[in-house]
Amino acid sequence: MSSDASGAAPGAPEGGAAVDRMAGVEAVPGVAKPDPILTADGVRRSFGGLTAVDVDHLEVQRGTITALIGPNGAGKSTLFNLLTGFDRVDAGTWSFQGRPLNRLGGHRVARLGMVRTFQLTKALTRMTVLDNMLLAAPGQSGERLLGAFARPVWGRQERVNRERALDLLQRFKLDAKKDDMAGSLSGGQRKLLEMARSLMVDPSMVMLDEPMAGVNPALVQSLLGHITALRDEGMTVLFVEHDMDVIMGISDWIVVLAEGRVIAEGRPADIRRNTQVIDAYLGAHRGEPAGAAGTEESG
Ligand SMILES: Nc1ncnc2c1ncn2[C@@H]1O[C@H](COP(=O)(O)OP(=O)(O)OP(=O)(O)O)[C@@H](O)[C@H]1O
Ligand SMILES: [Mg+2]
Repeated sequence: MSSDASGAAPGAPEGGAAVDRMAGVEAVPGVAKPDPILTADGVRRSFGGLTAVDVDHLEVQRGTITALIGPNGAGKSTLFNLLTGFDRVDAGTWSFQGRPLNRLGGHRVARLGMVRTFQLTKALTRMTVLDNMLLAAPGQSGERLLGAFARPVWGRQERVNRERALDLLQRFKLDAKKDDMAGSLSGGQRKLLEMARSLMVDPSMVMLDEPMAGVNPALVQSLLGHITALRDEGMTVLFVEHDMDVIMGISDWIVVLAEGRVIAEGRPADIRRNTQVIDAYLGAHRGEPAGAAGTEESG
């Protein structure tokens, strides 16, 4: 864990403060958190006759790494889409930092400080790595329309964005690739690019949809390091993952979704001994090759 993050009590492990404040929080679905950054109520979404998401109440504690887990088709990505403005709810309300987000599109939500990455990376393959970063910079849309009058301001903003992009690329060890086409990156490097790109707007919360999927073990370690570093810098991280070792290793709190509903939440130790969780996983993954989706509890 890095020791240079600001804002943490001296001597205390970063991230510890937020986690300590959760000490008395009961491990039951929908439980209130001491300082939620994100709160959702009655969020539902159906596709035809299928209810993909049906979340009565969910709070995400500020400054923690919270894992969102559940079998394939549980509704994890759909919930991400709904909360970040990439899909429309059928019902429900939710707020971020106390501000209602209903009906706001993805770009507005990002500007308010809540960003997400996609399960299938959305890097623009025929654009350079650096341009992919710059495209995610604050205030990109419509800037070109301002024309010559705004040019001096635009130039300055562009320089600031460029500096930030280069800093982030360096942090994610992609700086040597800045002029390469994003399409030439490996799957793992694209995941890194996607994470770096999400940080262009200086968010307070990042939502990562399977950031480790399809990434080689060496890069997984590096991604894990980046995720804990974000938390240690005070960011809130909500991430979707299937690998139980990864989940148990870095999560401060775990939310379990099955058939669209929150069936359990708690600390890793609470989740590990929750038979309902074990059943949900075994039910969905019976017959799959061992290790395909976190069935470690099956023995
Ligand atoms: N656009 C859509 N149209 C129709 N059905 C959809 C759509 N998006 C998701 N679904 C369905 O909603 C359910 C939840 O899907 P979702 O992708 O949210 O699950 P998930 O938990 O992210 O699964 P995975 O772990 O496989 O990524 C699934 O049954 C899926 O087939
Ligand atoms: Mg998904």
